[in-house]
Amino acid sequence: MAYNKTENKLRFDYNNMMAKNIGEHGITDKELSSAATKAYIAFDYVERHRGKDMMGWTELPYNQGEIVEDILKTAKDIRAKFDYFVVLGIGGSALGPISVFNALNHLHYNDLPKSKRKAPKFYVEDNIDPERMAALLDVIDVEKTMFNVITKSGATSETMSQYLIISDILKKKLGPDYKNHIIATTSENSGNLIKIARKEGFKTFYIPDGVGGRFSELCPVGLLPAAVTRIDIKGLLDGAQYMDKLCKKDTASKNPALMAALLQYIAMRKGNNVSVMMPYADSLKFIADWYCQLWAESLGKAVDYAGNTVNVGQTPVKSLGVTDQHSQVQLYTEGPFDKVITFIAVDKFRSEVTIPEGAEEYPNVNFLCGATLNKLINTERVATEYALLKAGRLSNTIILPEVNAFTLGELLMFFQLQTAYCGAMLNINTFNQPGVEEGKNATYALFDRAGYEDKKKELESRPEKQDKYII
Ligand code: PA5
Repeated sequence: MAYNKTENKLRFDYNNMMAKNIGEHGITDKELSSAATKAYIAFDYVERHRGKDMMGWTELPYNQGEIVEDILKTAKDIRAKFDYFVVLGIGGSALGPISVFNALNHLHYNDLPKSKRKAPKFYVEDNIDPERMAALLDVIDVEKTMFNVITKSGATSETMSQYLIISDILKKKLGPDYKNHIIATTSENSGNLIKIARKEGFKTFYIPDGVGGRFSELCPVGLLPAAVTRIDIKGLLDGAQYMDKLCKKDTASKNPALMAALLQYIAMRKGNNVSVMMPYADSLKFIADWYCQLWAESLGKAVDYAGNTVNVGQTPVKSLGVTDQHSQVQLYTEGPFDKVITFIAVDKFRSEVTIPEGAEEYPNVNFLCGATLNKLINTERVATEYALLKAGRLSNTIILPEVNAFTLGELLMFFQLQTAYCGAMLNINTFNQPGVEEGKNATYALFDRAGYEDKKKELESRPEKQDKYII
C-alpha cells in the first residue's frame, strides 16, 4: 500500500527537554549549540559506515527487492497450509517480530476466529522455561504448524535447544515430511543452523553479515513473521526508508534521530542514567521492549574506542501509558532527577470508543460521559507531560499520526539511527555485546561443553556461597 508521506510523518517534540520549559534540570540552547560538533561527528560516523561492517541495517529498506518477493510468496504458502506459525528465537531474533506483530495486528489476534484472522495463529517463544514449552505444545497442533527458527549465530543454546525439541517431535509424527514444517532464518556463512538446514533441506532465509540481532527487524528475521500475519512489509520498509532519508541532514535541528540522540547524550552526561520508554497505545507496548534491548545492549559498554574504562549507558525502562501512571509515574515526578521519559503519542487510533451518558447524578463521573476513550488517553498523556514539566523533569514525545506499517517503519529506523548516533557520541562499539558472552560461556562450562574446561575451573574457584547469607 502507498502511504502519504506528509500525513504519516513522525514528529519529535523535545520542548520539555529544554531549560526554557522545565527549568534548572533542562538543557539550554547554549548546551545544544556547544554540542553541535559532537552531533556532526556522530552523523559523519554513521554516514561513513552505512552498509559497512555492522551497519548493514541502514541499507535494508533499499536492497531487499527479491527477498521481499520470496518472503511474500512463502508467507502466502504458509497461510494456505498451516494453522499455527511459531517463531523460535531470543533477543534480537524475537523482540522485533513480537513488537511488530503486536503493533500492527488485532490486539486479540489469536482469539479471533480464523475467518477474521485469515492467517495462522502466531506465537513467539523467546524463553526456555519448560512450562512455557509444555504450554505451547498444549495449544498448537504441530502437524499444522510452521516453525521459524531464527538465530543469526546458529549457535544460541536457547534457540537450538528449542529447535532440537521441536524437530524431534516433528520427525516422530511426520517422518521425512517434517522438513516442510521448519524454516531457518540464519547467517548464510556461519553457525550450525545453516549446516543443519542444508543437510535436512529446510527452506532458509539469510540474515546479512552486517545486521546484528537487535538491528534485524527489517530483514527476514522480522519480515517473514510479519508477512505471514498479512502485515504490509513493503509499507514497513517504505516508512523506514523515509525516516532514513529524513535523517540524512548533518545538523541536529533538521535530523530528528540525531537530535534525539544528542539530547539523550547531554542528559546522560548530566547524570540522567535512566531512559523510560512510555507509549500511550497498547499496540506499541512491545515496541518499548524492543527499544529496551536496542538501547541497553548497544550503549551499555565498559570501554570506549580509545581503550578508556567508561562504563556508560542508560538503563532503559519500559512503561505503558496510561496503565503505568498508576504504578511508576509517582517515581518519575518525585524520585531522583536521573531519568528521561520518552512518550510515544498516537494522533489517531484505529478505533473510536465513546463513553456513554448515564451518570448525570454523579458529577465526579459524569464529566467523562459523551467523551471518547481516544480523547481520554491523549488528555491523560498531556496531563502527565504537564505533571513532569511542573516537577522539572526531562521528557520528550515521539508523535505517530497513527499506528500503521509506514509509521512503524519510521519509528524502528528512528530508534536504530538514534542508537547508532548516540553510540558514536559516546565513542563506543554500539554493535557488540561482550557483557552477554560471559554468561553464555559460563553456561557452556557448567554444561561441560568441550573446550570450556578452563572456564569451568575458573567458575569452580568463585567464592563459595555461605549458608549464613541464605535465610
Ligand atoms: O542483538 C543481539 O545481537 C543479541 O540480542 C542476539 O539477537 C541474541 O543473543 C540472539 O542471537 P542469535 O540470533 O545469534 O541467536
